[in-house]
Amino acid sequence: MAHLIAPSILSADFANLQRDIDMINRSQADWFHVDVMDGLFVPNISFGMPVISAVKKHATKPLDVHLMIVDPDRYIPAFKKCGADILTVHAEACTHLHRTIQYIKQEGMKAGVAINPHTPVSVLREIAHDMDLLLVMSVNPGFGGQSFIERSLAKISEAKTMREACGASFVIEVDGGVSLNNYRKVVDAGADVLVAGNAVFATADPVGTIEALKK
Ligand code: DX5
Ligand code: ZN
Repeated sequence: MAHLIAPSILSADFANLQRDIDMINRSQADWFHVDVMDGLFVPNISFGMPVISAVKKHATKPLDVHLMIVDPDRYIPAFKKCGADILTVHAEACTHLHRTIQYIKQEGMKAGVAINPHTPVSVLREIAHDMDLLLVMSVNPGFGGQSFIERSLAKISEAKTMREACGASFVIEVDGGVSLNNYRKVVDAGADVLVAGNAVFATADPVGTIEALKK
């Protein structure tokens, strides 16, 4: 499939959020990437349900919610309620990841699992058939605008190989430091979905940048 683009609203102007949502609506972007940080799992706090509900009211594309929070099971129904379509948890933050994935699906969302740069792809082998999305973090999560970790390219290829070997069908998403300078390598390595925060919002023409990232 042609790769998808999920602009991260973490880099949006929160004082002009509706304007930036409208920009994504009219662009060629496919999803809204929504980063939730709790100040525990990552050293930063972003936003929570009231903001996501407000985004949902205006967004015309699916909300791809990336939870960088400890023990996400506590909030799975709440994220459904505020509008998440895809809910991604971190492997490092879940004791019973298989159970968490089933819970997300039961609540009517697609289930994603993210892995930090230090976590090998192979830890997800036993749940390859259960997850809908595997998120390869290409920076240490917590902040937008960081540099892409080159080793991630090998992990993206490993994820693709694992998917084929298992006959699984999860999509491979890549998050962190993706830009016009490196997106081609990321797609060639096997990424199906590219998250882009800084690369989109720090440019003068975000709609044009999204279009360029789709090519
Ligand atoms: C990082 C977040 C990312 C972030 C990406 O912790 O998960 O989604 O917004 O931002 P860029 O594309 O600027 O690295
Ligand atoms: Zn993210």
